[in-house]
Amino acid sequence: MPKLKIVGGRRLSGEIVVDGAKNSAVALIPASILCDEIVEINNVPDISDIDALEEILDYLGVKVERGKHSIVFNDTKIDNKFIPCSMSGKLRASYYFMGAILGKYKHVDMCFPGGCSIGERPINLHLKGFEKLGAVVREDDGRVIIDADELVGAEIFLDFPSVGATINIILAAVKARGKTVIDNAAKEPHVIDVCNFLNSMGACISGIGTGRIEIIGVDHLHSTKHNVVPDMIEAGTYVIIASLLGKNLKVSNLEPLHIESLTSKLEEAGVNLEIGDDYIFVADVSEYKGIDIKTMVYPGFPTDLQQPMTPFLVSCEGISHIEETIWENRFQNIADTIKMGASIEVSSDNKVATIYGSSKLVGKEVSATDLRGGASMVICGLIADGETIIDNISYILRGYDDIVGKLNRVGADIKIVD
Ligand code: EPU
Repeated sequence: MPKLKIVGGRRLSGEIVVDGAKNSAVALIPASILCDEIVEINNVPDISDIDALEEILDYLGVKVERGKHSIVFNDTKIDNKFIPCSMSGKLRASYYFMGAILGKYKHVDMCFPGGCSIGERPINLHLKGFEKLGAVVREDDGRVIIDADELVGAEIFLDFPSVGATINIILAAVKARGKTVIDNAAKEPHVIDVCNFLNSMGACISGIGTGRIEIIGVDHLHSTKHNVVPDMIEAGTYVIIASLLGKNLKVSNLEPLHIESLTSKLEEAGVNLEIGDDYIFVADVSEYKGIDIKTMVYPGFPTDLQQPMTPFLVSCEGISHIEETIWENRFQNIADTIKMGASIEVSSDNKVATIYGSSKLVGKEVSATDLRGGASMVICGLIADGETIIDNISYILRGYDDIVGKLNRVGADIKIVD
């Protein structure tokens, strides 16, 4: 199995260009099925989660032309058959086939989605939304079968502003009869991107980016060409790296507003960031002081940046806290961070990590436990003394486009080894 080998301590200079957002692209691709004409999506990240979606499309008989950072659907008709667990289980976002196929064909038969084990990850809110639109949902031993004679607009309140449920219900509602209202909807940039994409095909969605989204159903969705929004989590990961190791390091092609919750925390710790229109630049690093972080839905501090932030807090002077409020099991990276020399305690309810700072990390053999936990171990390796070997790197490659090339080009010593 390939591993990552990192020799730590290198200062990083130059430019890292952020790619398109994973969590947007993984929704846009299933959403394309709803279109009745040709769809072209650009700025698609080259990551294994996209390969997994392409495999499902291929199985459903949809032939796409995939470039390094693009995907073109010349035909969006599918052979609407059962999607097996071996395919849906490869990633979380396979659940977007539910909303898209239900919206277009009124019948879905597939296994539950997979994804990183960062918590329970139920999809009850998605299914409740489909039922509100008039669908009948049956669950049978890991299989979900959803049928509707007709989908009819409805008022749907989400108990939690779930990203996945918001997008999935929108996908099912864009061609439903009448008006659907989603209250307590998610406001993340990737939710906005999916809505803008659907509107560019002729969908009628308003309230985009607010907690109350309204969708008036349409019969036909026409051809479109769309650029995926920059990846706020990839951007944030590299800005954290720049804060720790940058020497005239620029992270570009990002939307600074999307990661304001991160940059304001880095500045609170003492990082000197130059924030431009579409880039963040770090001229040099200095000593930082500990801070407290609480993960929240957008525009709060993103749960997906909590793990990459851990090595930063390990390096700060004093005590920091991370409170994780979204997922039940998102401190799996901490055991290996401690193994490398950090001093961290996790509360018995697994919700709060207390980080005693100023620790110097030392390279060790560690493992990626999940995607963002893997990114966190990469950062630990970059700042550690000596050599770090990271196992289970497939988790990292599912979400970070060319992470090895991007870091090497700015001076890191990181490579994939067998
Ligand atoms: N939840 C429910 N029921 C549902 C759906 C969600 O109880 O039906 C709960 C979850 O258990 C969790 C919370 O709501 O406690 C948030 O879940 P959400 O639905 O917002 O998450 P998601 O759509 O499954 C996406 C991203 C995650 C990211 C979260 C939160 C994708 C494919 N995944 O997941 O990304 O952590 O939103 O922002 O978009 C990652 O990229 O590393 C990643 C895990």
